[in-house]
Formats: sequence, structure tokens, C-alpha cells
Amino acid sequence: MFSQAMERTVAELTAPAKGILAADESAGTIEKRFKSVDVASTEENRRSYRELLFTAPKLGDYISGVILFEETLKQKSEAGIALPQVLAAQGIVPGIKVDKGAQALANFPGDKATQGLQGLAERLAGYKELGARFAKWRAVITIGDGLPSTRAIEVNADSLARYAAICQELGIVPIVEPEVLMDGNHGIERCAGVTEEVLETVFHALHRHRVQLEYMLLKPNMVLPGKDCPQQATAEEVAAATLICFRRTVPAAVPGIHFLSGGQSDEAATANLNAMNTYAQKQPWALSFSYGRALQAPALKAWHGMAANREAAQQALLKRARLNSAARQGKYTASMEAG
Ligand code: 13P
Repeated sequence: MFSQAMERTVAELTAPAKGILAADESAGTIEKRFKSVDVASTEENRRSYRELLFTAPKLGDYISGVILFEETLKQKSEAGIALPQVLAAQGIVPGIKVDKGAQALANFPGDKATQGLQGLAERLAGYKELGARFAKWRAVITIGDGLPSTRAIEVNADSLARYAAICQELGIVPIVEPEVLMDGNHGIERCAGVTEEVLETVFHALHRHRVQLEYMLLKPNMVLPGKDCPQQATAEEVAAATLICFRRTVPAAVPGIHFLSGGQSDEAATANLNAMNTYAQKQPWALSFSYGRALQAPALKAWHGMAANREAAQQALLKRARLNSAARQGKYTASMEAG
């Protein structure tokens, strides 16, 4: 029923040279991020920080969509304009995180299952009224001794598929985010094996739930060695391992793959994306970004909670947005970091 609207949203989100800004940190996560720069997580601080991000001049040249947390969707700018409208005025599509976070999966120590399906259709209808045109649901998969269990992968895939189906019924484009965490000392092959199984299970579930692949986007982890693995990988190795895995598991009907940064350094997240877009073999999907930390970290540091630093923070965000836009086109070089 809403296929034209979803087609338009997908086309805007996957626009060439653009990617997505994830600014949907939940209450606990934003508190942690603010604490790292000695800022109290009050509602006003969250509002003014996010207004600063969204009003960065010409942000829409590099950013196609922003994922918001529920609170932000309802907040207004200093000038009294609803923040989703502030984004729309920059040519940016507003989206909304709709999951309620991951909780321990009973009987499977160490595994987690994402909550939030109850009442989701009603919540989505409300978010749509407020301007949200796409949504995000994040599943978290941990690699460890005996982890993840097959059951954890299946449960999370099923919730992702049910969420995606509900979104599409309302004309909202679902971003399906199965994140295999980079915590641990495992090698890149282990991440490749787990990511392949997760993606395979997720796309089976999406098929069973009749999700239209043309009207969704995938937000996955890159295939990386664990954070504490002594054997780290070059951007070319990451690109090869990631693309081999994705070609086996992600149907060509999916319009875009928008990677999360997941704790990679800003530069690594950019260089890895660039390597995928310069890979010898042509890929069927747009390869882009949906970064949280890798776009925001320098801006947050520059801001430090002070109104006087507003412009410096915006410039820091614009720099990362511009470099990731270059990487999305395969035009990034490390020397651009100096500019
Ligand atoms: P990071 O890029 O910081 O991993 O955040 C993206 C995100 O939206 C995680 O759900």
C-alpha cells in the first residue's frame, strides 16, 4: 500500500555520496558519552547537543538520514521548530530507533535478546505523525566461549523480521541491524563465520515474514578481528572478508548496506568503508555508513557542553561527514585527514 512512499525514502537514504548519522543513543548510552566529556545528561543538554549536530551548515550534503531517539523526535530547536522538521529543512530524512534494548536471554548465559515488539505498531503510528519515515532495530550478538548460541541468533533474527514487517505495513522503511560485537580477542575468521551465520538466519527470517527486501536497509557490522586480537587487519583485508561474507548472504534486492562503526576509530571506520567502495569487484548494493561514534566522537570532544564551542563542534562533525561521504564514493585518502 505504501510502496511508493517507501521507495522514495529508500532512494533518499541511499543517495550517492551520502550516509546516515546515528544520533539515537538511549538514555544510558548518551549519559556515558556525555560523561566522557564531563557533561551532565540533562534533557536540555541532550536537546542542545543534538540541535547543534542537526543544524551544522550543509550537513545535508553528506548525510541523507538521521536516526533519532524517541525523546529527540519530540524536542524543539531554540527557535521553536520541531527537531525532525529542522532535519527535513536540511534535506535529511528523520528516522527513529524503536527497539527497547537488549536483555539477557533466559537459559543462555552471555546471550542477549532485543525487546520492544509489544505495542510496536501503535508506537510507530505515533512516530510517523511526528515525521519519522524510517526506523531502526538493533540486535546484539556477542562472540565468546560457546557464544553465540544458535538459539540467540534465531530469536534475534525473528524479532528483526517481525519488526521489519510491522514497519513496512505502516510505510516506514526498516533498518535491520544485526550487530556482531567486536569485543573479544577472536580473529577475523571467527567474526566472518559468526556474521555469515547471523546474516543467513536473518534473511531466512525476513523471507518467512514476507518482508520486501526492496524496501529495507541493512545495518551490519563489518567483518573485523576482535578489539583485543593481537593480529589486526588492514582496510583491504577487512573489505575482502566483509564482501565475501555479504555476497554469500545478502540478496541483491537489498538496496543498501549501511555499516555501523561499533567502536572502530574514526579513521579506521572511514578507511574500511573506502576500501569496500574501491574493491575490484562491483557490488549489487550501495555500500554506505550509518555511524554513531565514528561521526560524533570529535564533535562531542570539541563541544564539551559549552555554547561557545558550538561552531567548532559542528566543524568537527562536518569533517567526519565529508570524509565518510568521500569513502562512500571510494575517493578517501588518509592525507585528507590533515585538511
Ligand atoms: P556506532 O556507529 O557508534 O556503532 O552506532 C551505530 C548505531 O546506531 C548502533 O546501534
